Amino acid sequence: MVKPPHQSRAPRVVSVAKMQQIDAEAIETIGVPRLLLMEHAGLAVARAARTLTAPSAGPILVCCGAGFNGGDGLAAARHLHEWGYPLHLLVAGSLTHLRAEPATYATILQRLNLPLLEVPDTKRLPQVERPLEECVLIIDALLGIGTRGTVREPIASLIACVNHSGKPVIAVDLPSGLDGDTGLAQGPAVKATVTVALGLPKQGCFAGAGPSYAGSVIVDSITIPRTLLEEMG
Ligand SMILES: NC(=O)c1ccc[n+]([C@@H]2O[C@H](COP(=O)([O-])OP(=O)(O)OC[C@H]3O[C@@H](n4cnc5c(N)ncnc54)[C@H](OP(=O)(O)O)[C@@H]3O)[C@@H](O)[C@H]2O)c1
Repeated sequence: MVKPPHQSRAPRVVSVAKMQQIDAEAIETIGVPRLLLMEHAGLAVARAARTLTAPSAGPILVCCGAGFNGGDGLAAARHLHEWGYPLHLLVAGSLTHLRAEPATYATILQRLNLPLLEVPDTKRLPQVERPLEECVLIIDALLGIGTRGTVREPIASLIACVNHSGKPVIAVDLPSGLDGDTGLAQGPAVKATVTVALGLPKQGCFAGAGPSYAGSVIVDSITIPRTLLEEMG
């Protein structure tokens, strides 16, 4: 039987630096637009959500950061909306600070009349209580491999709220707050049910306490060229 290309080798893990190098190569050297990768990342996350819940079960809360990890969450939200899922959306930061690709998704969602709750600081946390209570699933797109140092507010508190909710959680790429290299928590870290690893899984999901944060790890190439994943990974 001929195996599809993405199954042709055993799964490998990569360091954060290596994954960033592969991303840069795909985007800058090969010329795959970042928006295209984000669209595929969003689709992979939305598909994972679809395996855990149905639109009739209740809303999904998508928690996004202000970086590209957050952009992947916004891209997932667009797909889930098209599939009929009710959503609560929040961005830990200000919408005006989003970079181009995440901002594109934020604009689309707003024009589709989906409200995006901005949580720039801990003062807005009370507004997150109802969505946390109502939702049946949480998508954690707060922080990915761009995390630097101990998690700052308001994300630290949002992570604590997510964990305290007891709801199933899908982490985008890496559970927020988990060090992608060491598997050590950088302060509070999301305890995920499923982690959708983008490109290649990060070694921190398998090292130290990593597995207890990452849950089941699903890998999606997000169409990063197979040659890069095989040669550089
Ligand atoms: N093309 C694509 O769509 C593509 C391809 C590959 C990967 N990805 C995704 O992009 C992610 C990486 O994106 P990224 O480089 O923008 O990084 P990121 O993981 O989204 O993190 C960067 C964001 O987090 C904030 N941040 C960093 N450290 C923090 C801390 N300790 N506490 C609180 N906030 C912190 C940064 O704010 P400041 O700038 O203010 O510090 C920034 O807003 C990957 O994990 C993956 O999900 C996307």
